[in-house]
Formats: sequence, structure tokens, C-alpha cells
Amino acid sequence: MKQSVFTVIQNEPLTDTVFRMILCGDTAAITVPGQFVNIALDGRYLRRPVSVCNLEDNRLTIIYKVVGQGTAQMARMAPGEKLDLLTGLGNGYDLSKSGERPLLLGGGVGVPPLYLLARRLIEQGKCVAVVLGFNTKDEVVCEDEFRALGADVTVTTADGSYGSKGFVTDALPREYSYFYTCGPEPMLKAVYRATKTDGQFSFEKRMGCGFGACMGCSCKTVTGYKRICREGPVLEKGEILWNV
Ligand SMILES: Cc1cc2nc3c(=O)[nH]c(=O)nc-3n(C[C@H](O)[C@H](O)[C@H](O)COP(=O)(O)OP(=O)(O)OC[C@H]3O[C@@H](n4cnc5c(N)ncnc54)[C@H](O)[C@@H]3O)c2cc1C
Ligand code: FES
Repeated sequence: MKQSVFTVIQNEPLTDTVFRMILCGDTAAITVPGQFVNIALDGRYLRRPVSVCNLEDNRLTIIYKVVGQGTAQMARMAPGEKLDLLTGLGNGYDLSKSGERPLLLGGGVGVPPLYLLARRLIEQGKCVAVVLGFNTKDEVVCEDEFRALGADVTVTTADGSYGSKGFVTDALPREYSYFYTCGPEPMLKAVYRATKTDGQFSFEKRMGCGFGACMGCSCKTVTGYKRICREGPVLEKGEILWNV
């Protein structure tokens, strides 16, 4: 984990509520796709955790949805402004298990962390299929970026206004070697039930410290309690116990 100050390079809306922010700073502590950064905001006691979407040298991209006061504050930031970040947080995805034809399943703002994962897997020569799920056409983000990587991309919308109608689980390819997923918990549960192979799930929990000190994000797994910020946010399919 590293604490450092980043400069906002770009902060622009992708949809009515979702923004892409590009930051410049010391990204050395970010080593694996699926990790997150924890952002300090003026006047807010708790940092806000956001997944790493992309990394190019000292440039970090995050994509975030405005859901409350902290993210609304981020949306008002202009290029040149500074942000204090904790970087290199979380375990990230384990790429070594992907097999040759990994499947990536993302829902809403669970899509961004899959971008760096797809990029790294494609760099390793893997044949990557991506299914991106949204409620409606106006919420679709990152489709072109995944296509530009060379991934086989399917978009689903719950209302059928774009791509194929339904949920990501309605568009699973017949063949895949392994899967990686990130999205809202109801989607993760559906993916858990619908998938036939092993895979990895990234969870979003309310967080206190974000680096393992407060136990505020603990959840019970098959192998005991794990802190989502430290031993997660990525858990293997076989270790998940759903709190139904
Ligand atoms: C590991 C991790 C990675 C994340 N990555 C992203 C990302 O890439 N893009 C993105 O848009 N969001 C991401 N989130 C969620 C993001 O942290 C919250 O949306 C943000 O902290 C809300 O701050 P706020 O002050 O705007 O909202 P608040 O006023 O704090 O809360 C507003 C609403 O958001 C919900 N919320 C708040 N914090 C979280 C949280 N940690 N997880 C889930 N729901 C929350 C609250 O329950 C409430 O309904 C991630 C969360 C975690 C734990
Ligand atoms: S948020 Fe403090 S231990 Fe995870």
C-alpha cells in the first residue's frame, strides 16, 4: 500500500451519472488487475474506494458512478486539482487460473476493473470473451474500449434497449475455460448459479479503513472470516458463503 498525491488530468461524464477520471501520480504499488484505490476527499471522514480501470505508466484511470456526496464531489473536480490516494489495495484477480478462453462478466460499475484484466489476459495471448450488463442503453460504458482490445464483446440490457435483452447470465457463451466477474451482488449470485466452471468474484462492501485495520468489511467464507479490503475484494467461487 502506498499513500501519495495524484493530479487530476481529465474528469468527464460518460453517462448522466458515470464519470471517467484520469489521474497522474505514483502508480508503482498497483500491481494486479482488480485492485482498488481509496480516495480522500476534503471534508469527508472516510475515503471512497474505487477500482483501478486502467493503468498507463504513471496514469491511472477510474470510472465511478455518482451515488452520494463523495462521488458528487469527485464529479465536480477539474483538471489540475489534487487527490490523496491509497494505492495498491486488495488482492486483485489471479490471472494464472484463466485457462485459454476466459470469460469476463461485468455489471454496471462492476465493468471498469475488468478492463485492465481483459488487457492483461489478451497480452498473454488468451482468447477473452466479455459480457457487459446494464439496465438500459443510456448506461452502457466501455463497450468500444473492450472491442479495441480485441475481446469478443456482448452487451446486454435488462430492458432490451441495446444489445441483447436480459442479464449477463442470459448471454453466457457455450464454451469458456474460467470466469471473472464484478458487479452488484444480485448479479454475482446469479453468475454463481449459472456458471459451470470455477471463477473469481469481486465484491463491493462498505469500507472503513480500506487496508485491513478496522475489520469493518469482514465477511464469512468457507475458510473463515476474510476482510474484503485485504484478502479480497476478489474471492474464489469455492470459498463464497452467501448471506441470504
Ligand atoms: C473495492 C471497491 C471497489 C469499488 N469500485 C467502484 C468503481 O470502480 N466504480 C464505482 O462507481 N464505485 C465503486 N465502488 C463503490 C464506491 O466506493 C461507492 O459508490 C462510493 O464510496 C460512494 O461514496 P458516496 O460518498 O458518493 O456515497 P455515500 O453517500 O457514502 O453512499 C451513497 C450510496 O452508495 C452506497 N455505497 C457507499 N459506499 C459503498 C461501497 N463501498 N460499496 C457499495 N455501495 C456503497 C451506499 O450504501 C448508499 O446507498 C467500489 C467499492 C469497493 C468496496
Ligand atoms: S475496511 Fe477496514 S478492515 Fe476492511
